[in-house]
Amino acid sequence: MYICICNRVTDKEILDAASQGATTLESLGQQLNVGTCCGRCTDCAHELLESHSHQQSSSN
Ligand code: FES
Repeated sequence: MYICICNRVTDKEILDAASQGATTLESLGQQLNVGTCCGRCTDCAHELLESHSHQQSSSN
C-alpha cells in the first residue's frame, strides 16, 4: 500500500527504513523522500513509525 503517493513510497519501505534505524519523519524524508512534496502522508508515516517502535519495545 502506498503511504506517500507523491514519491511512491509504500508502508513496507517505511517499515524497512524504520528497522534500519529511521526513527523520525526527518530521517524518513532523507531516506525515502516521504513527506517532501504535499505533506499529506506525514500523519500516516508517523503512525507507522510509532507502531514500529512499539512493536520493538514490546518484543524486548
Ligand atoms: S503523499 Fe507524501 S508528500 Fe505527498
